[in-house]
Amino acid sequence: MITVKGLHKKFKDFHVLKGLDMHVQKGEIYGFIGHNGAGKSTTMNILVGLSRPTRGECTVNGTVLANVEHPGDLHIGYLPEDPRFYSWMTARETLAYLGGDIAGERINEMLEWVGLTHAAHRRVGGFSRGMKQRLGVGAALIRDPALLILDEPSSALDPEGRSDVLRLIAEMKQMGKTILFSTHILADVERVCDRVGMIAEGRMIMEKPLFQLQRDNIRPIFEITPAIPWEPDIISKLSQLDVVLEVTIKGNSLHVMTVDESESSKKLLRFFADRNTPLRGLSLRKNSLEELFLQEVKPL
Ligand SMILES: Nc1ncnc2c1ncn2[C@@H]1O[C@H](COP(=O)(O)OP(=O)(O)O)[C@@H](O)[C@H]1O
Ligand SMILES: [Mg+2]
Repeated sequence: MITVKGLHKKFKDFHVLKGLDMHVQKGEIYGFIGHNGAGKSTTMNILVGLSRPTRGECTVNGTVLANVEHPGDLHIGYLPEDPRFYSWMTARETLAYLGGDIAGERINEMLEWVGLTHAAHRRVGGFSRGMKQRLGVGAALIRDPALLILDEPSSALDPEGRSDVLRLIAEMKQMGKTILFSTHILADVERVCDRVGMIAEGRMIMEKPLFQLQRDNIRPIFEITPAIPWEPDIISKLSQLDVVLEVTIKGNSLHVMTVDESESSKKLLRFFADRNTPLRGLSLRKNSLEELFLQEVKPL
């Protein structure tokens, strides 16, 4: 659905995208993640035809971008990072205006779908952030595009608003749509995405199906709290165990990342038993996508 090869974008001498590659397949939800300022919006603006690449090739919906004269010809549903509406229009008028010749029935359907039927005749100027964002999602879908590009659709919302938007995104997929959305909230990606792309320093540093990312990169972490102070060289001793990948101290607990759960738990318990170290707590969790992201992408 989207293929990007060697995309570069410079603003004067500021090089934002430095050879970005991206592959979005038909029918999937693609989560585009990266720090603020990494170049997500820049990439999306190019994909929807609002900004020209400095170099590189993009194919969207089977069309090579360079050959497109009017962005509207791409038939993409686009939700900008900060959607603006006419504050004096009602929700219904807004969708009618953006839908052009779309029939009233479809407008009612969209209002119902985004949960704004009760506010259909209220002015958008008085809407909450969450309502505006849901209206924006409805507006992106009003012309029934096959591809939706949503720039941080959930990022500025409270947990309830985020859940609403993520549910709408999941429902779009059920309708057979392809969705590319950006976010810096990694938990949102874990909730709905099929594929994840991480951008850093102008390039795609990782692009994988979510399940593969979880299988290959998400590791168990044992959080171990002792009943007595640690031996001073505990980190280097633990690191010598073949199942241990990484040891960090957080507060008075040790966080030990290991290659697996069962072998590692046995070896860790034996390690402490051999030293006669009494433990006050031992718990197991998985590292989150957030931690993985921080490992892969060094903060700016
Ligand atoms: N029109 C522009 N002119 C100059 N610099 C820009 C412009 N648009 C974006 N940038 C810069 O490009 C970088 C990437 O921005 P952006 O794509 O908005 O990042 P993201 O969406 O990942 O937060 C930022 O440093 C931003 O300041
Ligand atoms: Mg952005």
